[in-house]
Amino acid sequence: MKTLITGATGQLGTLVVKHLLDRLPASEIAVSVRTPAKAENFASLGIDVRHGDFDDLALMTNAFKGIETALIISAEADNATRIAQHRTAVDAAKATGVKHLVYTSIVDPRSDADFTYSAIHLDTENYIKESGLNYTLLRNSFYADLLLAGVPHALETGAYGAPAGDAKITYIPRNDLAEAAAAVLANPENHINAIYDLTGSKAVSHAEIASYVAKATGKEITFADLPADVHVGILNSIGLPGHLVEALAGLYVGAKKGDYETVSSDIEKLLGRPAQSVDDFISKALAA
Ligand SMILES: NC(=O)c1ccc[n+]([C@@H]2O[C@H](COP(=O)([O-])OP(=O)(O)OC[C@H]3O[C@@H](n4cnc5c(N)ncnc54)[C@H](OP(=O)(O)O)[C@@H]3O)[C@@H](O)[C@H]2O)c1
Repeated sequence: MKTLITGATGQLGTLVVKHLLDRLPASEIAVSVRTPAKAENFASLGIDVRHGDFDDLALMTNAFKGIETALIISAEADNATRIAQHRTAVDAAKATGVKHLVYTSIVDPRSDADFTYSAIHLDTENYIKESGLNYTLLRNSFYADLLLAGVPHALETGAYGAPAGDAKITYIPRNDLAEAAAAVLANPENHINAIYDLTGSKAVSHAEIASYVAKATGKEITFADLPADVHVGILNSIGLPGHLVEALAGLYVGAKKGDYETVSSDIEKLLGRPAQSVDDFISKALAA
């Protein structure tokens, strides 16, 4: 019986596979990907590459055959589409006899959150719980990696912009979330029906983030609190889909209410260490 990772050609999935290879032999790992040609690196390592797409129940059911434990990495689409996609993945897992589902959720999943994608995760979590399969819910906080997007502009202008005011968010590096997922996948029996809040060890303000960028680059950079409409205009101008613009705008509205400032030590239970700090993450990312 194998352990399968969906979305393995994505950024998080690639890192989960990397960390899982430290814990399991390649012969016990399978991946479900939408484009198998993009997964030749996995195949060359001896990983079982399967064709799967959350939009296709038959394909997904085929991908889950002979799988004991599966990580469903959440997809990227508008809420109605993504809820249906995730439900399809759960249905396929149940139909093929998968025993344990691990899912990448979000911290504090709610139907009424300003971060509109939160409602997707609540629906998927509930659907997984109702499936009767063993589960582990990884309630990931926001990727520290996302903070790097503002760096080029900050270097040009001296202003690190975000519509964040004094909001503090428990950003955490994607790599730590991937390692936590791999730790669960390697020993799922230790995490049956567990829910983990995976946050950084500190909630950081965007003024602090600007100071980390300044320190890492040796440049004078300060935080610029962007008006919400300016932020939305920037996101639209780079061609992001409307549902993503709405979710990102809502993230900061929620954060200003304190939605994403609660620190949890759950990551330490999975990694045996705290998450890499945002300060250290930015320093190493910008030195690379
Ligand atoms: N916590 C956060 O801060 C944060 C930030 C951004 C996103 N997320 C969520 O976390 C997920 C993973 O993050 P990431 O950085 O790895 O994103 P990513 O690099 O965009 O990867 C997303 C993965 O989802 C797969 N996918 C999309 N639609 C699918 C479908 N219909 N069926 C099967 N797979 C599908 C993609 O497959 P392909 O490789 O075939 O395209 C890709 O592998 C995202 O999809 C999103 O739901 C979280």
